[in-house]
Amino acid sequence: MKYIILFILIIGGKALAFANHHKPVSDTVSTSQILLDTEGKPINAHGAGVLYHEGVYYLFGEIKKGKTWLVPGQNWEDYRVPAGGVSCYSSTDLKHWKNRGVALKVVTNDTSSELDTGRVIERPKVIYNATTKKFVMWLHSDKNDYRASKGGVAVSDKPWGPYRYLGSVKPNGQMLRDMTLFKDDDGKAYLIYSSEENSTMHVCLLSADYLKPTKTYSRILIKENRESPAIFKHNGKYFLVTSGCSGWSPNAADYAIADHIMGPWTQQGNPCKGLNAGSTFSAQGAFILPVYGKPGDFIFMGDIWNKTDLEKSAYLWLPIHVNGDKVEIHNSK
Ligand code: GAL
Repeated sequence: MKYIILFILIIGGKALAFANHHKPVSDTVSTSQILLDTEGKPINAHGAGVLYHEGVYYLFGEIKKGKTWLVPGQNWEDYRVPAGGVSCYSSTDLKHWKNRGVALKVVTNDTSSELDTGRVIERPKVIYNATTKKFVMWLHSDKNDYRASKGGVAVSDKPWGPYRYLGSVKPNGQMLRDMTLFKDDDGKAYLIYSSEENSTMHVCLLSADYLKPTKTYSRILIKENRESPAIFKHNGKYFLVTSGCSGWSPNAADYAIADHIMGPWTQQGNPCKGLNAGSTFSAQGAFILPVYGKPGDFIFMGDIWNKTDLEKSAYLWLPIHVNGDKVEIHNSK
């Protein structure tokens, strides 16, 4: 009897170990909370993006620090918190994040500078240019009323920075608000952003050094009013998860698919399933992270905004399930 129990325990243990081993990485890092870094301090990296480089994941995000205030005279919930620049954290397992300091620093009391704490610095994303050997950061640069609507660009020799700010641009004279950055398998890179007063998204090919927009761009999701683009590619297809436009308040996500990044893109509906799917489980997407070495394993990274105290905003990381053209994100609860 003793041996039978021992046998069952061993086999059971092996089965469990096997199950854990085969669990997608995205499953094991899913979370909905304030994340802590390796020093036990809250991770301050909102509207985040992740770069994978030489075995290390680098997480970049907006540093939100200070008192939240409401910009007067706006007809929407224009809550603001001082821009703290762009943070950087690194990890090799997507669970333990080491604070690598401020990748892009801000300045104070210089309203002429786009890096002043009184400006908007949002949704930073970083990619590596293998030819120039530079790390290139793009971000949404704006004024408090969001009327400037520009893409800011910065470079560094090291992934964690310091990044040197090169200035900002309206690609092809068009507005750029919520944005993301995508480097394709062929090394070409694209900016994807809400344009035309947030009514239509644009996909713009960047120059070979990734520092400038080119004239090659397309209008996608025309008049669909989408924000917070998060893109990934799987089995040669492109997937783009977006939110609706309701400021810091959550709304329903949608995803579109395309065979070519320039389109045509077709909307497929809300990928979220389960309780609170209609509000993206209280979150808004920021990035979709492909887990390195695990094809098909993706993490949806979103923000749970606390609009009246933005510094206290939390995160939602969930696995994405992809099956052919179908994408699903399930409530972890
Ligand atoms: C959201 C956007 C955020 C931020 C906010 C300002 O819709 O996704 O990045 O810009 O509006 O209210």
